[in-house]
Amino acid sequence: MTHSLNILLVSRRKDVLDHLEQVLVAADFAPSRQHNSNGHVDPLHGVDPMPDLVVLHLSHLWREELEAMAALPPDRRPALIVVGPASDVNVMRLAMQAGARDLVPDTQVKADLLQAVQRTHEERRRPTKTAAGRISVFMNAKGGCGATMLACNVAHVLAARSKQRTALLDLDLQFGAAPLYLDLYPKRGIAQALENLAGLDEVALDGYFAKHASGLNVLSHAANEPLTASNISSAAVTQLLNVALRSHEHVVVDMPRCVDPMTTAVMQRAHQVVLVLQQSVTAVRDATRLVQWLRAEVGVAKDQLCVVINRFEKGATVAVEDIQNALGCNDATLVPNDFKSVSECINSGTALLDYAGNASITRAVMTLETRLGGTSAQTRSSMIARTISSLLPGRTR
Ligand SMILES: Nc1ncnc2c1ncn2[C@@H]1O[C@H](COP(=O)(O)OP(=O)(O)O)[C@@H](O)[C@H]1O
Ligand SMILES: [Mg+2]
Repeated sequence: MTHSLNILLVSRRKDVLDHLEQVLVAADFAPSRQHNSNGHVDPLHGVDPMPDLVVLHLSHLWREELEAMAALPPDRRPALIVVGPASDVNVMRLAMQAGARDLVPDTQVKADLLQAVQRTHEERRRPTKTAAGRISVFMNAKGGCGATMLACNVAHVLAARSKQRTALLDLDLQFGAAPLYLDLYPKRGIAQALENLAGLDEVALDGYFAKHASGLNVLSHAANEPLTASNISSAAVTQLLNVALRSHEHVVVDMPRCVDPMTTAVMQRAHQVVLVLQQSVTAVRDATRLVQWLRAEVGVAKDQLCVVINRFEKGATVAVEDIQNALGCNDATLVPNDFKSVSECINSGTALLDYAGNASITRAVMTLETRLGGTSAQTRSSMIARTISSLLPGRTR
């Protein structure tokens, strides 16, 4: 059966169009072709209606071709895959500005192009849940309580186990460490994405994400960015969240502990706020003040607030009941202390699920993920039930 993705192949060379067409037809796509001859540098000259996806083979006029693509208004811009000199930094930069989701080297057309097209096809087939998309914001009550560790691992489980299209936004633009937890070193980051806010749509935003093998998309400050004062406006962060929500089912935010217009704007858009603390008097004191702010100033409802007691110890002086009484909640999620697993995961940039899928800390992360809208804990318990029932005597296979 032919796939329904509406693809347009564009090139100034007929032999290239023949080849691209052949590759895609063999994989059951039915692309159309646009053979641009002299005179027009706009690859989409005269194209109407717009296709779902453009595969653009760059010519010697690559700069003009990509500039014409970048000039398209976001709501008219189709998904774009560029075929050309992928190792040329200038081409790469301009392709990103044009919103290209992939840059396929001429030499690798067959394998890489098919993969890129199939990815676009898959994304189009899965409905975008704009209305149902969730934002979960993680904030610690005190530095070092474990908010980043939990935000990264919950986001990873959402993507890897629950197969939700998930984005992780690290909004600590100065010292954010989320990419390090996942061994990612983003070349571009939030500051670059916001420089082009007017043209920021989901296709353009995709170019700013660092991609984890699990499918998780991570947006943070760029790895080599010098330290500067952070000044994202509440309007800019709200637009960033809106665009991220259009292409993701779940947006997890790792938020710096700070009360300002930007954090307030994010909290107001959040479906759930995860407040991470440990069993210490100082953390409980600060958590109490944060809960007051969230409830009274931000308007977070009681059932939107999820309290997590991290590095939980049974015999600790500050007991779970004390914390729950102080914060006015009765359903705190407990995450055990596991220094060895956590520090080895951080040092090697490995997610807990990949490092120790059955450890009790990973199970606690899965419980939290499921509380926030994932399905990993349910999948796990039905898997266990199936395994046990298959071991029962008398069961025939
Ligand atoms: N459940 C846990 N068990 C053991 N160590 C933990 C746990 N959670 C966090 N840590 C440790 O605490 C440190 C701080 O965690 P992090 O997530 O960066 O905190 P925050 O983002 O709240 O400042 C990490 O380096 C990690 O070693
Ligand atoms: Mg942190």
